[in-house]
Amino acid sequence: MRGFRGEILSLCHDPAEVPDAVRYDADGLLVVEEGRIVARGAFADVFPRFPGLAVEALNGLIVPGFIDAHVHYPQLDRIASHGEQLLDWLERHIFPAEQAFADPAHAATVATAFLDELLRHGTTSALVFGTVHAASVDAFFTATDARSLRMACGKVLMDLGPEGLKDTPESGVAESEALIRRWHGRGRLTYAVTPRFALTSSDEQLASAGKLLADHPGVLLHTHLAENTREIAEVEARFPDAADYLDVYDSFGLVTDRAVFAHGVHLPDRSCERLAEADAGIAVCPSSNLFLGSGMFDFAQAERHGVKIGLGSDIGAGTSLSLLHNAGAAYQAGLFKGYRLDPFRALWLATGGSARLLHMQSHVGMLAEGQEADFVVLDDKATPLLARRTAGASLAERLFASQVLGDDRAVRRTYVLGQCAWDRDGVGQAA
Ligand code: GUN
Ligand code: ZN
Repeated sequence: MRGFRGEILSLCHDPAEVPDAVRYDADGLLVVEEGRIVARGAFADVFPRFPGLAVEALNGLIVPGFIDAHVHYPQLDRIASHGEQLLDWLERHIFPAEQAFADPAHAATVATAFLDELLRHGTTSALVFGTVHAASVDAFFTATDARSLRMACGKVLMDLGPEGLKDTPESGVAESEALIRRWHGRGRLTYAVTPRFALTSSDEQLASAGKLLADHPGVLLHTHLAENTREIAEVEARFPDAADYLDVYDSFGLVTDRAVFAHGVHLPDRSCERLAEADAGIAVCPSSNLFLGSGMFDFAQAERHGVKIGLGSDIGAGTSLSLLHNAGAAYQAGLFKGYRLDPFRALWLATGGSARLLHMQSHVGMLAEGQEADFVVLDDKATPLLARRTAGASLAERLFASQVLGDDRAVRRTYVLGQCAWDRDGVGQAA
């Protein structure tokens, strides 16, 4: 058993739904036993309950490990690819990069680099796209399992994809089922049925994704929704009878409480009502939406309808793996449509909000007693300008400045199950 003493901040609910959602201990203590939080609170209250406890003082703001609700590990090396909006960007930059994942050795190399980057950025859990190749998911889960990370991933279903990057409805089902058997529920791993988006799967494959979801009640559904206007026009042309883009997925049984839809930038109210009714979630990816010229997420609309949301980096379209950076971008996207994203709510989206989308909220995201001890130590003086801006500032101002000015530099340490997995000021990858 070990104690971690420091300033501790987390949210136990969405502050847009519950007023007293912030949990803050200015001088707090987190007690961890076998990777789990057994106690958390004010140091003066908690410490006397554990006589002889070895306590490490942590210098910085302790928050839950970030949870990236939508990211593509095979696109890591295509971040910052110039010149196109979504559909042309996929053709020119992304599909060629994903073809390289036919080679399992390449997949293993990139999976390792991706996890190193996640931990450097303070992200301890994520919902991750593989590629169409089943081996890309084996590589990812192998690397993830070795580090005991809580992660969700799936093989991409795309029988209408480009040559060299497509499966068939039959192979998609067979490979997904084999991966589910091999990985789902093993250690901290979750499988996600992953049709790329409506345009790259036949009706038969979308139906088979619905059947996979129904046949395996614990798995997630992960896809893209209403990101880009040309994409939406092409979906409307192909599915003229659908009420809207979401209705396409709905007609194949894909809109459930386990569904995570990336983006949802351009949604009619009808879609929001249906998402809320089904308790399906949206992974908001603001830096990606800006980078690809897709648009700005409408936070007020989602809030009005009670749609649950989390935060995603959407690398390689996103411009940073940092969920601090993406929280800052979310604020700017929100303000574009008149919504003032509160910095505590932004922290919720990057932690408990994403955990709720990924059905991980009983395990991670809130630093609550009984949860797994995945946490980050933030340094709100990481750069000279951050130090100036946060000197003497309130907690809300420090948090907001960390979101607007911060990134991986502001992550001093990342802990996984109570073990230090990244130490910025130490030897790098800690034991
Ligand atoms: N829609 C379909 N595939 C993709 C992808 O790889 N990235 C993004 N941002 N949107 C998509
Ligand atoms: Zn994406």
